[in-house]
Order: sequence, then C-alpha cells, then structure tokens
Amino acid sequence: MSEIVRSGQEAPEEPDFAPAEHVHPRRTDVDPRAARRAERQVAILFGLSAVFTLVALAAYVLIPVDAGVSLPLAGPVGALNVALGLSFGLAILCIGLGVIHWARKLMPGSEVVAQRHELRSTDEDRAAAVAAFERGLDDSGFAQRPIIRRSLLGALALMPLPLVIILRDLYTSPPNALSPAEQLSETIWDGGVRVVSDIADRPIRPEDVPIGGLVSANPENLHEVEEAAGNLNARAKAAILLVRMRPDEIVSEQGEGWSYEGILAFSKICTHVGCPIALYEQRTHHLLCPCHQSTFDLADSGNVVFGPAARRMPQLPITVDEEGFIVAQSDFQEPVGPSFWERG
Ligand code: FES
Repeated sequence: MSEIVRSGQEAPEEPDFAPAEHVHPRRTDVDPRAARRAERQVAILFGLSAVFTLVALAAYVLIPVDAGVSLPLAGPVGALNVALGLSFGLAILCIGLGVIHWARKLMPGSEVVAQRHELRSTDEDRAAAVAAFERGLDDSGFAQRPIIRRSLLGALALMPLPLVIILRDLYTSPPNALSPAEQLSETIWDGGVRVVSDIADRPIRPEDVPIGGLVSANPENLHEVEEAAGNLNARAKAAILLVRMRPDEIVSEQGEGWSYEGILAFSKICTHVGCPIALYEQRTHHLLCPCHQSTFDLADSGNVVFGPAARRMPQLPITVDEEGFIVAQSDFQEPVGPSFWERG
C-alpha cells in the first residue's frame, strides 16, 4: 500500500527490486590476481597520503616562516605556504583517489534504488539498514583486507596533525615578533609631520577647522610609507580626528600644550575593538563609537564616559609649523587602537 510522505504526495509504489549484477564483470571480479593488484594500488595511495602528511609536518618544522619562493604566474610567495598547501593537498588527494579506486575495483557493483519514505524508517527498515551496512562492511572487504584497513587507518590518523599546527599558528607569533602592544605603540606620526585632510589630501591650517567642526585626517607621509613598504597597517594606525572647541571649554588634556588654539587631535580608532569613529556631538564634545556605543569626552582628555572601552582615546600632540600648517609635535604617547593586548 502506498504511504503519504511529508510533502503530502503519495510515495510511489515500491518496485520489486533486486540488485542488478554486472552485465560485464570487472576484471577484478573474475581474476583474483587483478583484485590483489588493485588492493595493493589502493594501499599504495593510502601510504602515499601518509607520506605527504609527514612531508607537511617536516615542512612546517624545517622551512622558515619568512622564506620566499618565486612561482611562474604567481610571482614571489611564501615557501612555507606553498609546501604546506602542496603536501597536505596531495595527502587529501591520495586518500580520495584510494577510496575511489577501492570502490570502483573491489567493492561489489550493483544498481541501488533509493525510495522516498517518512523521515523515520520503520523498525523493519532500520533493521534492514543495519543488515545492509554490515553486509556492505563485509562486501567492502574492510575486515578481510587488513593491508587496506591498516593503511587507511594510518593515513587518517596522521591527517589531523597538520591541522593542529596550522591552528596553533593562529594564536602564536613568530619568535622575535613585536607584541601587539609594541606594534600599536608606534605609528608614522613624528615631530613636524603635517596633518593632511583625509579626503582632499591637503595640509590643514587652523582656520580650516571651524569651532564645533570635525575633520578626518592623516599624516602627510602616509603615501610614502604605504607605497614604499606596502604597509596598510600604517594607515590603520595613523588615522586621526581634528576637533575644535573654544579654549575655555577644554577641561583637561593628556599633555600640557598638546592642543593649538582649541584644536585637538585624537586617534580615530576606538580603544574597544578598533572601529573607526567619526560621530561627534559638538555641544557635549562627546565622540561616539557606532560599534558598541563607547563614548569619549574629547574636552576631558578623551576619557571614557560610557560603554565597553576600557581606555581613553589617545591624543596626538599638535602645533603649527613656520608656514602655519598644523603638524604633530611627536608620535602618540600611548598605544592606539583596540586594547585586547591588556588582557594578558
Ligand atoms: S569598537 Fe568602539 S565601542 Fe566597540
């Protein structure tokens, strides 16, 4: 009798079904020597997979992380990445080829019809499925062919090892690398570096910043540094905001004489997790981060007045040069950007 399936449509009557035998038997079906040869080929593929996995581990240990290699079409790339990618890729490929070869040459070949039923099978079907699985296990020869079983298990046991070392690299730095705090403590700002507007890329005079106004800006040497070193981190760390208020509205600064005629410069990167900020309320002098609503009082040393940020917004000391353009007095005096590194 037909049954109703979840889609509301009647399932087709189950046809009388018997697995079809091979019309043309494979060589391995009739020639035991061919079957043994195929068995050895499968084992060799699994063995090669294990070898490539070991090569990946050796490459990780032996190739320095900064070693380079030049590839046709791709140009210079990291030698370690190439070695890991090739060896681990070949390890996975050999496992796949071995399984396919095993299925094509040694496992029984028969037609299979998948019927559509309710999601939960009947107890009889479940028992039949278990019986079919056990029959398949027998048919695959997994139990009877120890050479294939052991080589496959060996290759699979080794395969997760490169993942362990790759994951380990996600949270460790190479030896001698700067700590996050050290990297964020230094930017390309320096004494005498002019402040240029972010959009027009022109040096800024004090009269370009109106009272209550906010200007996004960068150091004048940004393009030099970026072009010379391909270093986009420089831009991420050096972005600043200029705001101007009446000098008598300034409650406190992070250093004496760090502002110029009511103009103050602050990092543009939130000290919570590093979102760029440009929401400024001129009446309260509050700077609001759109990501998690941290609020900084720029009239009071950039201190946090609300939200999850745990550190004030770093201030850049500024003055004007002999031509009347706003310049930095020095680099920032404390790390810019997110403060995750304080949770040691
Ligand atoms: S990044 Fe600014 S509040 Fe979270």
